[in-house]
Amino acid sequence: MKSRPFVFINAAMSADGKISTYDRRQVRISSYSDMKRVDELRAGSDAIMVGIGTVLADNPGLTVKSGEKNVIRIVVDSMARTPVEAEVISRRAGPTIIAVSESAPLERVEALREKTEVIIVGDDSVSLSYLLAELKNRGIERLMVEGGATLNWSLISEGLVDEIYVYIGDMLIGGKTAPTLVDGVGLKEPMKLELLSVEKTGDGVLVKWRVL
Ligand SMILES: NC(=O)c1ccc[n+]([C@@H]2O[C@H](COP(=O)([O-])OP(=O)(O)OC[C@H]3O[C@@H](n4cnc5c(N)ncnc54)[C@H](OP(=O)(O)O)[C@@H]3O)[C@@H](O)[C@H]2O)c1
Repeated sequence: MKSRPFVFINAAMSADGKISTYDRRQVRISSYSDMKRVDELRAGSDAIMVGIGTVLADNPGLTVKSGEKNVIRIVVDSMARTPVEAEVISRRAGPTIIAVSESAPLERVEALREKTEVIIVGDDSVSLSYLLAELKNRGIERLMVEGGATLNWSLISEGLVDEIYVYIGDMLIGGKTAPTLVDGVGLKEPMKLELLSVEKTGDGVLVKWRVL
């Protein structure tokens, strides 16, 4: 097995397990106190990772408000679809890495390279195991994954996640096509988790699990 950082997923979901709406519209699920916790988690990490679906849907800046540390921002984006003006690149904060595959159109890769670092890992889609090994080589020990549903699925199904933290908000979202915490094709057998803690925070509940 390749060496990799400690990887944890942090997400907010509704009581029915959805992380956004059927039309992939961002929903404020977290309470104010939970947003502070997320910021502190970012500050305590060496890097934050999201999938291109999240960049296109939410356009997050992934900045850290607390602390002085420059946390590296990473987008998993096989075809180099990240807009050059995306907040994750343009918002001043830590460095940004766009991880693309060999199949990404060269002109898109070059356009992104003018703005930020691009690394090529994988043939058709980004190879997450190689990407994590490369991040470890660069000294990244603690990686926070902030979704979305498809990236969570790939990391979990490839056995690349150590812990999962979920804020469960006091709402229902519904919709069979609305993204859930983990999408993808699904596991043949359920994956066992070890419950680490449960805490009431604001009007929601924060649950932490270790992946076994
Ligand atoms: N509530 C929360 O905590 C939270 C957090 C984050 C996001 N969200 C929501 O989640 C939704 C986005 O989720 P999503 O599932 O559409 O997108 P996503 O997981 O953010 O990104 C998935 C995309 O990443 C790319 N990718 C490249 N290599 C991959 C690999 N090896 N494995 C998996 N993906 C890879 C693929 O696109 P290419 O093939 O083009 O590369 C894939 O479609 C949005 O609605 C957003 O609001 C919610």
